[in-house]
Amino acid sequence: MFKFGFTKDAVGADKEDNEEENKLEWIPAFKFEITPEQIEAKYEFSYYRETNIFSDYNLKLIRSDKVVENLDKQNCQNIIEAESQHSDLIPAKYEGGLKIWECTFDLGQYILKEEIKLKDKLVMDLGCGAGLIGLLALLKDAVVHFQDYNAEVLKSVTVPNVLLNFDDRASILTRCEFYAGDWASFVTLFDDDESKKYDYIFTSETIYNSDNHKKLYEIFKRRLKINGIVFVAGKTYYFGVGGGMRQFENLILKDGCFDVKSVWRSHDGVNREILKLIKK
Ligand SMILES: C[S@@+](CC[C@H](N)C(=O)[O-])C[C@H]1O[C@@H](n2cnc3c(N)ncnc32)[C@H](O)[C@@H]1O
Repeated sequence: MFKFGFTKDAVGADKEDNEEENKLEWIPAFKFEITPEQIEAKYEFSYYRETNIFSDYNLKLIRSDKVVENLDKQNCQNIIEAESQHSDLIPAKYEGGLKIWECTFDLGQYILKEEIKLKDKLVMDLGCGAGLIGLLALLKDAVVHFQDYNAEVLKSVTVPNVLLNFDDRASILTRCEFYAGDWASFVTLFDDDESKKYDYIFTSETIYNSDNHKKLYEIFKRRLKINGIVFVAGKTYYFGVGGGMRQFENLILKDGCFDVKSVWRSHDGVNREILKLIKK
């Protein structure tokens, strides 16, 4: 079982954290290709669950406990290390995509409630993990690019979740692309190819590490269409980690390229919210 992995809370730990961060080696971004074996894979009933977490949509989702078991068996070091540290995240090694984080539910419900039209739009589920937002977008007839830091998450969770929910696998895969690796190099993968710019970028629970805020923001700036919209769902503050919505919002406001509006806030439990960003 994983636990949120950043436990340093002393102010004095900041300097040490920054030094550690500078030493981290981030995996460069690349397009993740699906093999014919994956496309034909059969999933046993016990390997997934059915849920209607989003009203009107009955989604089939791979069970993360089974995935972790399998990755253990395949000797996947990043996952074994995270598990042995009882950690949800190990910076630059494993960034949390195996489990579904709560702001994904907020963002999905927001998309449905606001009836955001996604038909034929190019949508990015940035930091997708299980890919629930991308799945919703596919069900609403969008073309979706899924991005997760860890290729093993794409392979063992995101791709199976897509395949499980559409009978015509060959056809659905013509509406999907998958990308792994670090945001810093993801932003440069297509240079200025206008056909790879997004109508919508959705991102949930991706602002917990303030060292990554600039990378994330650069993607918004360079990969969004002129009239595109970004939705950022996250906790107002990530205790024990340091990242938070106000800090991220200030970075965006300082740069002055986007209008920023808080469009949704939670009224119970841990403070969570959704920001909407539109290019000026
Ligand atoms: C906490 S998980 C959230 C997953 C999912 N959006 C959800 O809400 O359930 C953070 C996501 O951001 C991605 N991520 C974090 N830092 C990243 C980085 N520097 N480069 C690329 N992806 C990153 C992780 O791979 C993961 O998909």
